[in-house]
Amino acid sequence: MNQDELKQAVARAALDHILPHLESDMILGIGTGSTANCFIDALAEVKYRFDGAVASSEASAERLKSHGIPVYDLNTVSELRFYIDGADEANEHLHLIKGGGAALTREKIVAAVAKEFICIADESKLVDVLGAFPLPVEVIPMARSHVGRELVKLGGDPVYREGVVTDNGNIILDVWNMNILNPVEMEQAINQITGVVTNGLFAMRPANALLLGTVGGVKTLTTE
Ligand code: 5RP
Repeated sequence: MNQDELKQAVARAALDHILPHLESDMILGIGTGSTANCFIDALAEVKYRFDGAVASSEASAERLKSHGIPVYDLNTVSELRFYIDGADEANEHLHLIKGGGAALTREKIVAAVAKEFICIADESKLVDVLGAFPLPVEVIPMARSHVGRELVKLGGDPVYREGVVTDNGNIILDVWNMNILNPVEMEQAINQITGVVTNGLFAMRPANALLLGTVGGVKTLTTE
C-alpha cells in the first residue's frame, strides 16, 4: 500500500468508527489536509445521516460544500460529538504536532469544542519524541521578529513560512530543532509569548483516539 492508500484506509476506518453514532441532527467537526480530505470524500457517501459540519479551514469548508454537506459557523453550534482530523506527528500519548497546512488555530478551536477527537494518519506520523517535524506557530504579523527571538530562547530555530497567510490573516513560523520532551509544558510556554496566536502542539487537548494506517491494517491507539 502506498501512502495515499493508507490515508484512504484510515479515513474509511474513521467513518466506520462514527457511523453507529450518527444522528440526523448531529454536526461533525472536520479538519484540514490530505487525510482529512479523504475523510470528507468518504463522509459524503453518508451525508443524509447527519446534519452538517464545522470546518477547520476555508479549504475544508469548500470541499464539504462541494459534496453538498452543509457547513455551519462554530458560534451557532453548541455541541460537536466528533472532530476528525489528521496530524503531522503523533506520539503514543496522542500528543500531536499539527499545522502543516497552516490551519492549526481553527483546528485547535474545533478540537476544544469536540467531545471526541479522532486523529487519522498513516504510520509514518507516529514518533517517539515530537519535534522532527518543524513546529508551526501562528503569529500576529507585527510580532514576527519578537516571537522569533523568543522562540530562539526556547531552543528552536524559527523559519518564516514565505507566502503563507492563514485563514485568520496571520503568518506562520515553523520552528526547527525542537526536541519536545514535555509537550504540555512546551505548548504552554510558546502560547505565553506575546504575539503568538497559538502553536501546533496539541498536548493539553490531545486526541482521544489515533487511527493509524499501516501496511498490516488500521491500528487504533487510545489513551484510556
Ligand atoms: C493542517 C494539519 C494537517 O492535519 C496536517 O498537516 C496533516 O496533513 P496531511 O493529512 O496532509 O498529512 O494540521 O493544518
